[in-house]
Amino acid sequence: MLRFTEALLGAASLPVLLVPGSAAPRADLLEQRQSGNTITVDLSKTFQTMDGFGISLAFQRANLITNMSDKKKQRELLDLLFNTTTGAGFSILRNGIGSSPDSSGDHMNTFAPRNPGGPKAAAQYQWDGKDSGQLFVSQEAYNTYGVRNIYGDAWSAPGFMKTNNNENNGGSLCGVTGATCSSGDWKQAYADYLVAYVKFYAEAGVTVSHLGFLNEPEFSASYASMRSSGAQAADFMKVLYPTMQAANITDKTGIACCESEGWGNQVSMTNAIKSAGLEGQLKAVTSHTYTGGPSGPMNVRAPVWLSEQCDLNGQWTTSWYSNGGAGEGLTWANNVYSAVVNNNISGYVYWEGVQWPNPNTNEKLIKVDNKTNTYEVAKRHWALANWSRYVRPGAVRIGTSGAPSGLRTAAFKNIDGSIAIMAISSSASAVSVSIKVSGATPAAVEAYVSDNTHNCEKMMATLAADGTISGSVSSRSITTFFLPAPAAAAAPPPVARAVG
Ligand SMILES: *[C@@H]1O[C@H](CO)[C@@H](O)[C@H](O)[C@H]1NC(C)=O
Ligand SMILES: *[C@@H]1O[C@H](CO)[C@@H](O)[C@H](O)[C@H]1NC(C)=O
Ligand SMILES: *[C@@H]1O[C@H](CO)[C@@H](O)[C@H](O)[C@H]1NC(C)=O
Ligand SMILES: *[C@@H]1O[C@H](CO)[C@@H](O)[C@H](O)[C@H]1NC(C)=O
Ligand SMILES: *[C@@H]1O[C@H](CO)[C@@H](O)[C@H](O)[C@H]1NC(C)=O
Ligand SMILES: *[C@@H]1O[C@H](CO)[C@@H](O)[C@H](O)[C@H]1NC(C)=O
Repeated sequence: MLRFTEALLGAASLPVLLVPGSAAPRADLLEQRQSGNTITVDLSKTFQTMDGFGISLAFQRANLITNMSDKKKQRELLDLLFNTTTGAGFSILRNGIGSSPDSSGDHMNTFAPRNPGGPKAAAQYQWDGKDSGQLFVSQEAYNTYGVRNIYGDAWSAPGFMKTNNNENNGGSLCGVTGATCSSGDWKQAYADYLVAYVKFYAEAGVTVSHLGFLNEPEFSASYASMRSSGAQAADFMKVLYPTMQAANITDKTGIACCESEGWGNQVSMTNAIKSAGLEGQLKAVTSHTYTGGPSGPMNVRAPVWLSEQCDLNGQWTTSWYSNGGAGEGLTWANNVYSAVVNNNISGYVYWEGVQWPNPNTNEKLIKVDNKTNTYEVAKRHWALANWSRYVRPGAVRIGTSGAPSGLRTAAFKNIDGSIAIMAISSSASAVSVSIKVSGATPAAVEAYVSDNTHNCEKMMATLAADGTISGSVSSRSITTFFLPAPAAAAAPPPVARAVG
């Protein structure tokens, strides 16, 4: 093995660190040294800071975990979502702030089920300590797994605060421009309500980091929904933000807006918020892509999240790659790539983490059957995991160049100094690469490959004395070259060292 490596890398690049657990030496690496597919990672070129990757468990999906009577399976599900060594290590959890008067079906119940008699009357909150199963999962995410992006988002205000007196079918918040109601102006009452939600979570030990007051505000859904233009959102922020300040929560909790159904509408809404002079109040700009995705970065200072993504229509598939279908793992590895590299996205949130078998679609990552207490994990989950595990909150995206045809590369420097270099292959055969990291001297390298037949298997990668990494990106895979933090690398696991 050592002899081979020595031959492989040539005398000029010794000594060589050989990664423990390496696969058998590969002749194609040798070829690559000759063909010179050199990718350059440049630490001096920096882009956006990452908030992370995540999921929602809104609309009672959290209860599939919270109600799970088999506690071993419950822990397995929590680990799958949040564990950074065995699961996806998700770092964003998007919760729904309920507006329903009941908990039937997938309704998220509100803690303000009754109209107190008008917007100035003392609110009558009834916090049930469950929040549709979301509080338990949030406590686990926050306390056990250290998730810090806990996002509370309301699909609608309670019905009595709205023009249509109903949480469903659109309608607007009474009191925003163009929405007057005989019952009065409910903006302050809604702001108080949202801040009360943050306090209920705080009392339960969970800091809500992001607070949203809309979902798909250009769409009147038959379920919880509330219309809002950008100007109306800004109108409400003028009340919400001071209310948050008065409650002394703005150092921990910021506003996320506006969860548009598509990117185009989110751009208009963001621009309206900027025109109103409120850009500085945004902690995150949030958009879905159901009616259209980004074609470049949004012009805004706040981090932008694609906060709800999924394949809504496809029949449930657990496949990594079969024909490039909308629900396949490799498709999602690429979707994240486009978002992060081409469109400056800082947070990437799949729609549902878990859902029951019916409808049997790809809107979830994990299918949980609460009749049989069984679950099934789609490779979409692992596609997101392969990003989320190595690209941690606070990571700064750094420049890469020189990717050979068939490969898309991205690189990130984590807060702890570790560097993750991701390569996604659309090539039908393996591609060998050399990676040069400009601005850092790698002390060790680990490589992981996931494709149709490998599940994040550790594979061979070598590090030459001059810091050049050599490895192979297998066909239609997501392959990560991970350079551990300098501190961790200072005491590396035993490695075979070839000396000249
Ligand atoms: C969870 O349990 C509650 C009762 O505590 C029940 O109303 C609800 O239907 C259950 N939901 C799921 C998804 O198991
Ligand atoms: C993650 O999983 C590993 C392996 O099962 C376990 O040792 C560790 O405690 C888990 N992490 C957390 C935060 O629960
Ligand atoms: C505001 O909150 C911060 C911590 O979040 C705390 O240190 C400070 O004492 C609080 N101030 C008031 C006036 O409550
Ligand atoms: C990318 O987003 C960050 C905020 O996360 C922002 O500061 C930066 O200006 C954006 N870059 C581009 C090119 O829009
Ligand atoms: C399973 O989930 C469904 C949907 O929420 C719920 O109606 C049902 O009560 C749950 N069954 C069990 C056994 O928890
Ligand atoms: C990457 O994806 C594979 C499935 O293709 C999965 O088995 C593996 O655990 C994932 N790796 C990480 C670090 O999440």
